[in-house]
Amino acid sequence: MTDPTWHAPLPPDAPTLDLSPEAMRAATDACTRWAMDHIASLSQQPSWDLEGAREVAATFREPPPEHAAPLEVLLHRFAGAVAKSFNTAGPGYLAYIPGGGLYPAALADYLSLAVNRYVGVWNAAPALVAIESAAIEWLRTLVGYADGARGILTSGGSMSNLIGLVTARRNRLGDDFSRAVIYVSEETHHSMYKAAMLAGFPEHSLREIRVDAKRRMRADALEDAIRADRAAGLQPFFVVASAGTTNTGAIDPVPAIADLCAQHDLWLHADAAYGGFFRLVPGGEALLPGLERADSLVLDPHKGLFLPYGTGCLLLRDRDALRRAHAFRAGYLQDLEHPEDVDSFADISPELSRDFRGLRVWLPLALFGAAAFRANLSEKLALARWAYEELRQTPGCECHEPQLSIVAFRFVPPRGDANDFNRRLLQRVNSYRRVYISSTTLAGAFVLRFCILSFRTHGREVAMAVEDVRRAARELASEASLNPRPGEA
Ligand SMILES: Cc1ncc(COP(=O)(O)O)c(C=O)c1O
Repeated sequence: MTDPTWHAPLPPDAPTLDLSPEAMRAATDACTRWAMDHIASLSQQPSWDLEGAREVAATFREPPPEHAAPLEVLLHRFAGAVAKSFNTAGPGYLAYIPGGGLYPAALADYLSLAVNRYVGVWNAAPALVAIESAAIEWLRTLVGYADGARGILTSGGSMSNLIGLVTARRNRLGDDFSRAVIYVSEETHHSMYKAAMLAGFPEHSLREIRVDAKRRMRADALEDAIRADRAAGLQPFFVVASAGTTNTGAIDPVPAIADLCAQHDLWLHADAAYGGFFRLVPGGEALLPGLERADSLVLDPHKGLFLPYGTGCLLLRDRDALRRAHAFRAGYLQDLEHPEDVDSFADISPELSRDFRGLRVWLPLALFGAAAFRANLSEKLALARWAYEELRQTPGCECHEPQLSIVAFRFVPPRGDANDFNRRLLQRVNSYRRVYISSTTLAGAFVLRFCILSFRTHGREVAMAVEDVRRAARELASEASLNPRPGEA
Protein backbone atom coordinates (compact mmCIF):
# COMPACT_ATOMS: atom_id res chain seq x y z
CA MET A 1 0.00 0.00 0.00
CA THR A 2 1.35 3.43 -0.88
CA ASP A 3 1.41 6.22 1.65
CA PRO A 4 -1.70 8.40 1.09
CA THR A 5 0.05 11.49 2.48
CA TRP A 6 2.39 11.21 -0.53
CA HIS A 7 -0.54 11.31 -3.00
CA ALA A 8 -2.64 13.83 -1.09
CA PRO A 9 -0.27 15.91 0.95
CA LEU A 10 -1.34 18.78 3.21
CA PRO A 11 1.32 21.44 2.56
CA PRO A 12 3.61 21.78 5.59
CA ASP A 13 2.70 25.46 5.94
CA ALA A 14 -1.08 24.84 5.64
CA PRO A 15 -2.98 26.18 8.63
CA THR A 16 -4.45 23.47 10.80
CA LEU A 17 -8.17 23.44 11.51
CA ASP A 18 -7.75 21.25 14.57
CA LEU A 19 -6.75 23.25 17.62
CA SER A 20 -4.33 21.97 20.24
CA PRO A 21 -5.76 21.49 23.75
CA GLU A 22 -3.94 24.66 24.87
CA ALA A 23 -5.31 26.69 21.97
CA MET A 24 -8.82 25.36 22.63
CA ARG A 25 -8.56 26.26 26.30
CA ALA A 26 -7.32 29.76 25.55
CA ALA A 27 -10.03 30.40 22.96
CA THR A 28 -12.77 28.99 25.18
CA ASP A 29 -11.56 31.01 28.17
CA ALA A 30 -11.61 34.20 26.10
CA CYS A 31 -15.18 33.54 24.97
CA THR A 32 -16.56 32.51 28.36
CA ARG A 33 -14.83 35.46 30.08
CA TRP A 34 -16.47 37.82 27.62
CA ALA A 35 -19.88 36.10 27.93
CA MET A 36 -19.83 36.16 31.73
CA ASP A 37 -18.86 39.84 31.90
CA HIS A 38 -21.60 40.56 29.39
CA ILE A 39 -24.25 38.68 31.37
CA ALA A 40 -23.12 40.17 34.68
CA SER A 41 -23.55 43.68 33.26
CA LEU A 42 -26.94 43.12 31.57
CA SER A 43 -28.87 45.16 34.12
CA GLN A 44 -26.50 48.12 33.70
CA GLN A 45 -26.71 48.04 29.92
CA PRO A 46 -29.29 50.24 28.16
CA SER A 47 -32.52 48.47 27.29
CA TRP A 48 -31.68 49.03 23.63
CA ASP A 49 -29.10 50.87 21.57
CA LEU A 50 -29.28 51.14 17.81
CA GLU A 51 -27.32 54.36 17.42
CA GLY A 52 -24.75 53.73 14.72
CA ALA A 53 -26.04 50.17 14.22
CA ARG A 54 -26.16 50.55 10.44
CA GLU A 55 -22.55 51.68 10.38
CA VAL A 56 -21.50 48.71 12.50
CA ALA A 57 -23.58 46.43 10.26
CA ALA A 58 -21.83 47.84 7.20
CA THR A 59 -18.42 46.81 8.57
CA PHE A 60 -19.47 43.18 8.12
CA ARG A 61 -20.04 43.63 4.41
CA GLU A 62 -16.63 42.38 3.31
CA PRO A 63 -15.13 39.69 1.10
CA PRO A 64 -14.49 36.27 2.65
CA PRO A 65 -11.16 36.35 4.48
CA GLU A 66 -8.41 34.26 2.92
CA HIS A 67 -6.19 34.32 5.97
CA ALA A 68 -6.52 33.83 9.67
CA ALA A 69 -7.42 36.60 12.11
CA PRO A 70 -6.82 36.65 15.88
CA LEU A 71 -9.79 35.62 18.03
CA GLU A 72 -9.53 38.78 20.18
CA VAL A 73 -10.13 40.93 17.10
CA LEU A 74 -13.15 38.84 16.05
CA LEU A 75 -14.56 38.78 19.56
CA HIS A 76 -14.21 42.55 19.72
CA ARG A 77 -16.14 42.91 16.48
CA PHE A 78 -18.83 40.53 17.75
CA ALA A 79 -19.13 42.50 21.00
CA GLY A 80 -19.56 45.69 18.96
CA ALA A 81 -22.44 44.10 17.06
CA VAL A 82 -24.09 42.85 20.26
CA ALA A 83 -23.94 46.34 21.76
CA LYS A 84 -26.02 47.76 18.90
CA SER A 85 -29.26 45.87 19.42
CA PHE A 86 -32.34 45.47 21.60
CA ASN A 87 -31.12 44.13 24.93
CA THR A 88 -33.40 41.11 24.63
CA ALA A 89 -31.65 39.20 27.42
CA GLY A 90 -31.76 42.13 29.84
CA PRO A 91 -34.22 42.46 32.73
CA GLY A 92 -35.90 45.55 31.24
CA TYR A 93 -36.93 43.82 28.02
CA LEU A 94 -40.73 43.74 28.03
CA ALA A 95 -41.32 43.96 24.28
CA TYR A 96 -42.89 41.41 21.91
CA ILE A 97 -42.38 38.05 23.68
CA PRO A 98 -39.13 38.07 25.67
CA GLY A 99 -37.04 34.93 25.55
CA GLY A 100 -34.45 35.24 28.28
CA GLY A 101 -31.72 32.69 27.54
CA LEU A 102 -30.79 30.56 30.54
CA TYR A 103 -27.02 30.25 30.75
CA PRO A 104 -26.97 26.43 31.15
CA ALA A 105 -28.65 26.24 27.74
CA ALA A 106 -25.58 27.96 26.28
CA LEU A 107 -23.42 25.34 28.00
CA ALA A 108 -25.64 22.62 26.53
CA ASP A 109 -25.19 24.06 23.05
CA TYR A 110 -21.47 24.36 23.61
CA LEU A 111 -21.25 20.70 24.61
CA SER A 112 -23.50 19.45 21.83
CA LEU A 113 -21.61 21.43 19.18
CA ALA A 114 -18.26 20.35 20.63
CA VAL A 115 -19.11 16.65 20.42
CA ASN A 116 -21.06 17.17 17.18
CA ARG A 117 -22.95 13.89 17.33
CA TYR A 118 -25.73 13.19 14.87
CA VAL A 119 -29.21 13.09 16.37
CA GLY A 120 -31.26 13.19 13.16
CA VAL A 121 -31.53 9.40 13.07
CA TRP A 122 -31.82 7.08 16.05
CA ASN A 123 -29.08 4.65 15.00
CA ALA A 124 -26.33 7.25 15.04
CA ALA A 125 -26.68 8.10 18.74
CA PRO A 126 -29.49 6.15 20.47
CA ALA A 127 -28.76 7.49 23.94
CA LEU A 128 -28.50 11.11 22.79
CA VAL A 129 -31.76 10.72 20.90
CA ALA A 130 -33.15 9.31 24.14
CA ILE A 131 -32.11 12.52 25.92
CA GLU A 132 -34.09 14.57 23.41
CA SER A 133 -37.07 12.20 23.63
CA ALA A 134 -36.92 12.47 27.42
CA ALA A 135 -36.86 16.25 27.23
CA ILE A 136 -39.92 16.23 24.96
CA GLU A 137 -41.67 13.81 27.31
CA TRP A 138 -40.87 16.11 30.25
CA LEU A 139 -42.45 19.02 28.39
CA ARG A 140 -45.52 16.92 27.66
CA THR A 141 -45.85 15.87 31.30
CA LEU A 142 -45.21 19.35 32.69
CA VAL A 143 -48.03 20.90 30.67
CA GLY A 144 -50.31 17.89 31.24
CA TYR A 145 -50.76 16.93 27.59
CA ALA A 146 -52.18 13.57 26.54
CA ASP A 147 -50.42 10.36 27.66
CA GLY A 148 -48.73 8.57 24.81
CA ALA A 149 -48.41 11.71 22.69
CA ARG A 150 -45.28 12.17 20.62
CA GLY A 151 -43.46 15.33 19.66
CA ILE A 152 -40.48 17.01 18.11
CA LEU A 153 -38.34 19.98 18.97
CA THR A 154 -38.44 22.70 16.33
CA SER A 155 -36.77 26.06 15.93
CA GLY A 156 -39.84 27.90 17.27
CA GLY A 157 -43.56 28.52 17.16
CA SER A 158 -43.71 29.43 13.48
CA MET A 159 -42.15 26.13 12.43
CA SER A 160 -44.32 24.22 14.90
CA ASN A 161 -47.44 25.83 13.47
CA LEU A 162 -46.36 24.99 9.94
CA ILE A 163 -45.45 21.39 10.76
CA GLY A 164 -48.67 20.98 12.77
CA LEU A 165 -50.80 22.18 9.87
CA VAL A 166 -48.99 20.05 7.27
CA THR A 167 -49.24 17.02 9.55
CA ALA A 168 -52.99 17.55 9.91
CA ARG A 169 -53.37 18.05 6.17
CA ARG A 170 -51.50 14.85 5.36
CA ASN A 171 -53.46 12.88 7.95
CA ARG A 172 -56.89 14.25 7.16
CA LEU A 173 -57.05 15.52 3.58
CA GLY A 174 -56.32 14.08 0.19
CA ASP A 175 -54.30 15.73 -2.56
CA ASP A 176 -57.10 18.15 -3.36
CA PHE A 177 -57.57 20.38 -0.33
CA SER A 178 -58.90 23.36 -2.22
CA ARG A 179 -62.23 23.24 -0.33
CA ALA A 180 -60.74 22.78 3.12
CA VAL A 181 -61.32 25.52 5.70
CA ILE A 182 -58.94 26.60 8.47
CA TYR A 183 -60.47 28.55 11.36
CA VAL A 184 -58.40 31.18 13.14
CA SER A 185 -59.45 34.15 15.25
CA GLU A 186 -58.78 37.83 14.69
CA GLU A 187 -56.03 37.44 17.29
CA THR A 188 -54.29 34.32 15.98
CA HIS A 189 -50.53 34.72 15.50
CA HIS A 190 -49.59 35.64 11.93
CA SER A 191 -47.35 32.57 11.65
CA MET A 192 -50.53 30.52 11.23
CA TYR A 193 -51.47 32.54 8.15
CA LYS A 194 -47.96 32.10 6.86
CA ALA A 195 -48.15 28.37 7.56
CA ALA A 196 -51.39 28.09 5.55
CA MET A 197 -49.80 29.93 2.65
CA LEU A 198 -46.64 27.80 2.74
CA ALA A 199 -48.67 24.61 3.07
CA GLY A 200 -50.36 25.49 -0.21
CA PHE A 201 -53.79 26.48 1.06
CA PRO A 202 -55.45 29.13 -1.08
CA GLU A 203 -56.18 32.44 0.67
CA HIS A 204 -59.92 31.72 0.78
CA SER A 205 -59.25 28.70 3.04
CA LEU A 206 -58.76 30.92 6.09
CA ARG A 207 -61.81 31.90 8.08
CA GLU A 208 -61.23 34.59 10.71
CA ILE A 209 -63.59 34.19 13.68
CA ARG A 210 -64.65 37.19 15.75
CA VAL A 211 -63.38 37.65 19.30
CA ASP A 212 -65.22 38.75 22.44
CA ALA A 213 -64.45 41.83 24.55
CA LYS A 214 -61.54 39.94 26.15
CA ARG A 215 -60.09 39.14 22.70
CA ARG A 216 -60.97 35.41 22.94
CA MET A 217 -62.34 33.45 20.01
CA ARG A 218 -66.15 33.31 20.15
CA ALA A 219 -67.17 29.66 20.13
CA ASP A 220 -70.69 30.56 18.94
CA ALA A 221 -69.27 32.45 15.95
CA LEU A 222 -67.01 29.47 15.22
CA GLU A 223 -69.96 27.13 15.23
CA ASP A 224 -71.93 29.41 12.89
CA ALA A 225 -68.99 29.58 10.51
CA ILE A 226 -68.51 25.78 10.48
CA ARG A 227 -72.19 25.21 9.73
CA ALA A 228 -72.26 27.88 7.02
CA ASP A 229 -69.15 26.44 5.35
CA ARG A 230 -70.53 22.91 5.45
CA ALA A 231 -73.81 24.12 3.95
CA ALA A 232 -71.82 25.84 1.19
CA GLY A 233 -70.17 22.51 0.29
CA LEU A 234 -66.80 23.39 1.83
CA GLN A 235 -64.74 21.09 4.03
CA PRO A 236 -64.22 22.44 7.58
CA PHE A 237 -60.93 20.91 8.65
CA PHE A 238 -58.66 22.67 11.16
CA VAL A 239 -59.29 25.02 14.09
CA VAL A 240 -56.57 27.06 15.77
CA ALA A 241 -57.19 27.85 19.42
CA SER A 242 -54.74 30.27 21.03
CA ALA A 243 -53.72 29.56 24.60
CA GLY A 244 -52.25 32.98 25.20
CA THR A 245 -52.40 35.36 22.23
CA THR A 246 -49.39 37.47 21.38
CA ASN A 247 -51.28 40.74 21.56
CA THR A 248 -52.83 40.51 25.01
CA GLY A 249 -52.31 36.96 26.29
CA ALA A 250 -55.98 36.13 25.71
CA ILE A 251 -56.94 32.50 26.26
CA ASP A 252 -59.48 31.10 23.80
CA PRO A 253 -62.23 28.88 25.28
CA VAL A 254 -60.44 25.65 24.42
CA PRO A 255 -62.95 23.23 26.04
CA ALA A 256 -65.88 24.72 24.06
CA ILE A 257 -63.79 24.75 20.88
CA ALA A 258 -62.72 21.14 21.54
CA ASP A 259 -66.40 20.14 21.89
CA LEU A 260 -67.14 21.70 18.50
CA CYS A 261 -64.14 20.00 16.93
CA ALA A 262 -65.28 16.64 18.32
CA GLN A 263 -68.83 17.21 17.13
CA HIS A 264 -67.78 18.24 13.61
CA ASP A 265 -64.73 15.97 13.33
CA LEU A 266 -62.23 18.81 12.97
CA TRP A 267 -58.55 18.88 13.88
CA LEU A 268 -57.92 21.04 16.94
CA HIS A 269 -54.56 22.78 16.94
CA ALA A 270 -53.69 24.66 20.13
CA ASP A 271 -51.12 27.40 19.76
CA ALA A 272 -49.75 27.65 23.28
CA ALA A 273 -46.39 28.97 22.11
CA TYR A 274 -46.55 31.85 24.56
CA GLY A 275 -49.01 30.65 27.20
CA GLY A 276 -48.53 26.89 27.44
CA PHE A 277 -45.94 26.78 30.20
CA PHE A 278 -48.19 28.73 32.55
CA ARG A 279 -49.80 25.31 33.06
CA LEU A 280 -46.89 24.70 35.45
CA VAL A 281 -48.06 27.21 38.03
CA PRO A 282 -50.44 26.19 40.82
CA GLY A 283 -53.92 26.42 39.28
CA GLY A 284 -52.37 26.36 35.78
CA GLU A 285 -54.75 23.71 34.47
CA ALA A 286 -57.76 25.77 35.47
CA LEU A 287 -56.16 28.86 33.94
CA LEU A 288 -55.56 27.07 30.62
CA PRO A 289 -58.14 24.31 30.48
CA GLY A 290 -58.58 21.76 27.74
CA LEU A 291 -55.13 21.82 26.11
CA GLU A 292 -54.89 18.04 26.51
CA ARG A 293 -57.82 17.70 24.09
CA ALA A 294 -55.96 19.32 21.19
CA ASP A 295 -54.79 17.07 18.35
CA SER A 296 -51.63 19.16 18.12
CA LEU A 297 -50.09 21.49 20.64
CA VAL A 298 -47.42 24.15 20.10
CA LEU A 299 -45.14 25.10 22.99
CA ASP A 300 -42.18 27.45 22.85
CA PRO A 301 -39.53 26.66 25.46
CA HIS A 302 -37.74 29.76 24.19
CA LYS A 303 -40.60 31.77 25.63
CA GLY A 304 -42.11 30.28 28.79
CA LEU A 305 -39.15 28.10 29.75
CA PHE A 306 -36.71 31.00 29.33
CA LEU A 307 -34.49 29.09 26.89
CA PRO A 308 -32.54 30.79 24.10
CA TYR A 309 -34.20 31.60 20.79
CA GLY A 310 -34.45 28.65 18.44
CA THR A 311 -36.20 26.20 20.79
CA GLY A 312 -39.77 25.25 19.92
CA CYS A 313 -41.85 22.12 20.42
CA LEU A 314 -44.77 20.46 18.67
CA LEU A 315 -46.75 17.67 20.34
CA LEU A 316 -49.22 15.36 18.60
CA ARG A 317 -51.85 13.38 20.47
CA ASP A 318 -51.80 10.57 17.89
CA ARG A 319 -48.32 9.01 18.22
CA ASP A 320 -48.21 8.06 14.56
CA ALA A 321 -49.51 11.26 13.01
CA LEU A 322 -46.03 12.74 12.52
CA ARG A 323 -44.67 9.55 11.01
CA ARG A 324 -47.58 9.30 8.57
CA ALA A 325 -46.87 12.86 7.46
CA HIS A 326 -43.08 12.65 7.18
CA ALA A 327 -41.63 9.15 6.74
CA PHE A 328 -39.66 8.52 3.57
CA ARG A 329 -37.27 5.83 2.40
CA ALA A 330 -33.98 6.48 0.63
CA GLY A 331 -31.37 3.99 -0.58
CA TYR A 332 -28.50 5.78 1.09
CA LEU A 333 -30.32 5.48 4.45
CA GLN A 334 -31.00 1.75 4.10
CA ASP A 335 -28.49 0.82 6.83
CA LEU A 336 -30.52 2.77 9.37
CA GLU A 337 -33.44 0.46 10.13
CA HIS A 338 -34.41 1.00 13.75
CA PRO A 339 -36.76 -0.59 16.29
CA GLU A 340 -40.43 0.43 16.03
CA ASP A 341 -40.70 1.84 19.54
CA VAL A 342 -37.96 4.49 19.34
CA ASP A 343 -37.96 8.03 17.96
CA SER A 344 -35.87 8.64 14.88
CA PHE A 345 -36.43 12.34 14.33
CA ALA A 346 -35.85 12.36 10.57
CA ASP A 347 -38.85 10.02 10.22
CA ILE A 348 -41.18 12.27 12.17
CA SER A 349 -40.09 15.79 11.18
CA PRO A 350 -39.08 17.72 8.05
CA GLU A 351 -35.41 17.85 9.07
CA LEU A 352 -32.58 15.36 8.55
CA SER A 353 -29.35 17.01 9.74
CA ARG A 354 -29.80 19.53 12.51
CA ASP A 355 -28.48 20.73 15.84
CA PHE A 356 -29.00 18.74 19.05
CA ARG A 357 -31.79 20.84 20.57
CA GLY A 358 -32.64 18.20 23.13
CA LEU A 359 -29.67 18.94 25.37
CA ARG A 360 -30.61 22.63 25.44
CA VAL A 361 -33.98 21.66 26.98
CA TRP A 362 -32.84 18.68 29.06
CA LEU A 363 -29.84 20.23 30.82
CA PRO A 364 -31.54 23.36 32.28
CA LEU A 365 -34.59 21.32 33.36
CA ALA A 366 -32.40 18.68 35.00
CA LEU A 367 -30.14 21.27 36.57
CA PHE A 368 -32.77 23.60 38.04
CA GLY A 369 -35.76 21.27 38.43
CA ALA A 370 -39.32 22.16 37.45
CA ALA A 371 -39.98 23.94 40.77
CA ALA A 372 -37.69 26.81 39.73
CA PHE A 373 -39.70 27.31 36.55
CA ARG A 374 -43.01 27.17 38.40
CA ALA A 375 -41.85 29.83 40.84
CA ASN A 376 -40.57 32.12 38.09
CA LEU A 377 -43.73 31.76 36.02
CA SER A 378 -45.94 32.45 39.05
CA GLU A 379 -43.90 35.59 39.71
CA LYS A 380 -44.51 36.79 36.12
CA LEU A 381 -48.28 36.41 36.52
CA ALA A 382 -48.19 38.33 39.81
CA LEU A 383 -46.05 41.09 38.29
CA ALA A 384 -48.49 41.50 35.39
CA ARG A 385 -51.35 41.75 37.86
CA TRP A 386 -49.45 44.36 39.84
CA ALA A 387 -48.67 46.43 36.73
CA TYR A 388 -52.35 46.26 35.71
CA GLU A 389 -53.53 47.53 39.11
CA GLU A 390 -51.01 50.38 38.99
CA LEU A 391 -51.75 51.38 35.40
CA ARG A 392 -55.49 51.35 35.74
CA GLN A 393 -55.21 53.75 38.65
CA THR A 394 -53.14 56.10 36.51
CA PRO A 395 -55.28 58.99 35.25
CA GLY A 396 -56.06 58.73 31.55
CA CYS A 397 -54.89 55.11 31.28
CA GLU A 398 -57.15 52.35 29.95
CA CYS A 399 -55.83 48.90 30.68
CA HIS A 400 -56.87 45.40 29.59
CA GLU A 401 -57.02 43.00 32.50
CA PRO A 402 -54.19 40.49 31.95
CA GLN A 403 -55.15 36.86 31.46
CA LEU A 404 -51.50 35.81 31.64
CA SER A 405 -48.38 38.01 31.78
CA ILE A 406 -49.14 40.60 29.08
CA VAL A 407 -50.54 43.97 30.07
CA ALA A 408 -51.98 45.99 27.19
CA PHE A 409 -52.91 49.61 27.79
CA ARG A 410 -53.34 53.00 26.21
CA PHE A 411 -53.80 56.56 27.29
CA VAL A 412 -56.76 58.66 26.26
CA PRO A 413 -55.51 62.24 26.20
CA PRO A 414 -57.99 65.04 26.96
CA ARG A 415 -57.40 66.46 23.48
CA GLY A 416 -55.89 65.34 20.20
CA ASP A 417 -55.52 62.02 18.45
CA ALA A 418 -55.18 59.15 20.92
CA ASN A 419 -53.27 56.91 18.52
CA ASP A 420 -50.74 59.65 17.88
CA PHE A 421 -50.38 60.29 21.63
CA ASN A 422 -49.74 56.61 22.34
CA ARG A 423 -47.28 56.31 19.49
CA ARG A 424 -45.30 59.17 20.97
CA LEU A 425 -45.71 57.70 24.44
CA LEU A 426 -44.07 54.48 23.27
CA GLN A 427 -41.13 56.38 21.80
CA ARG A 428 -40.76 58.48 24.93
CA VAL A 429 -40.79 55.50 27.31
CA ASN A 430 -38.22 53.69 25.22
CA SER A 431 -36.10 56.84 24.92
CA TYR A 432 -35.24 56.57 28.64
CA ARG A 433 -33.65 53.20 27.83
CA ARG A 434 -34.41 51.66 31.21
CA VAL A 435 -37.05 49.31 29.81
CA TYR A 436 -38.00 48.40 26.27
CA ILE A 437 -41.67 47.94 25.40
CA SER A 438 -43.60 47.43 22.17
CA SER A 439 -47.04 48.23 20.79
CA THR A 440 -49.84 46.62 18.85
CA THR A 441 -53.13 47.52 17.22
CA LEU A 442 -56.36 46.34 18.82
CA ALA A 443 -59.58 47.09 16.93
CA GLY A 444 -57.86 50.01 15.20
CA ALA A 445 -56.42 51.46 18.41
CA PHE A 446 -52.69 51.91 18.97
CA VAL A 447 -51.99 50.07 22.21
CA LEU A 448 -48.83 49.66 24.30
CA ARG A 449 -47.96 46.43 25.99
CA PHE A 450 -45.71 45.01 28.66
CA CYS A 451 -44.90 41.35 28.16
CA ILE A 452 -43.38 40.16 31.41
CA LEU A 453 -41.69 36.86 30.68
CA SER A 454 -37.96 37.05 31.24
CA PHE A 455 -36.52 35.19 34.24
CA ARG A 456 -34.40 38.31 34.79
CA THR A 457 -37.42 40.62 35.06
CA HIS A 458 -38.53 41.20 38.62
CA GLY A 459 -40.48 43.81 40.59
CA ARG A 460 -37.76 46.43 40.18
CA GLU A 461 -38.02 46.48 36.39
CA VAL A 462 -41.82 46.33 36.29
CA ALA A 463 -41.99 49.24 38.77
CA MET A 464 -39.53 51.08 36.53
CA ALA A 465 -41.73 50.42 33.50
CA VAL A 466 -44.82 51.80 35.24
CA GLU A 467 -42.82 54.79 36.48
CA ASP A 468 -41.49 55.50 32.99
CA VAL A 469 -44.96 55.25 31.43
CA ARG A 470 -46.33 57.74 33.97
CA ARG A 471 -43.40 60.09 33.51
CA ALA A 472 -43.70 59.97 29.70
CA ALA A 473 -47.48 60.58 29.85
CA ARG A 474 -46.93 63.60 32.14
CA GLU A 475 -44.22 64.99 29.91
CA LEU A 476 -46.28 64.62 26.73
CA ALA A 477 -49.33 66.17 28.38
CA SER A 478 -47.39 69.18 29.63
CA GLU A 479 -45.63 69.62 26.26
CA ALA A 480 -49.05 69.52 24.59
CA SER A 481 -50.43 72.22 26.84
CA LEU A 482 -47.35 74.46 26.29
CA ASN A 483 -47.09 73.77 22.62
CA PRO A 484 -50.31 72.29 21.20
CA ARG A 485 -50.03 70.17 18.05
CA PRO A 486 -52.65 70.50 15.30
CA GLY A 487 -55.90 69.05 16.66
CA GLU A 488 -54.82 69.34 20.30
CA ALA A 489 -55.63 73.00 20.82
C1 LIG B 1 -48.88 32.66 20.11
C2 LIG B 1 -47.66 32.60 19.24
N1 LIG B 1 -47.60 31.68 18.26
C3 LIG B 1 -46.54 31.58 17.45
C4 LIG B 1 -45.47 32.43 17.57
C5 LIG B 1 -44.30 32.31 16.66
O1 LIG B 1 -43.22 31.82 17.38
P1 LIG B 1 -41.71 31.98 16.91
O2 LIG B 1 -41.39 33.44 17.01
O3 LIG B 1 -40.98 31.14 17.88
O4 LIG B 1 -41.60 31.49 15.51
C6 LIG B 1 -45.49 33.42 18.58
C7 LIG B 1 -44.37 34.36 18.71
O5 LIG B 1 -44.42 35.32 19.43
C8 LIG B 1 -46.61 33.49 19.43
O6 LIG B 1 -46.69 34.41 20.40
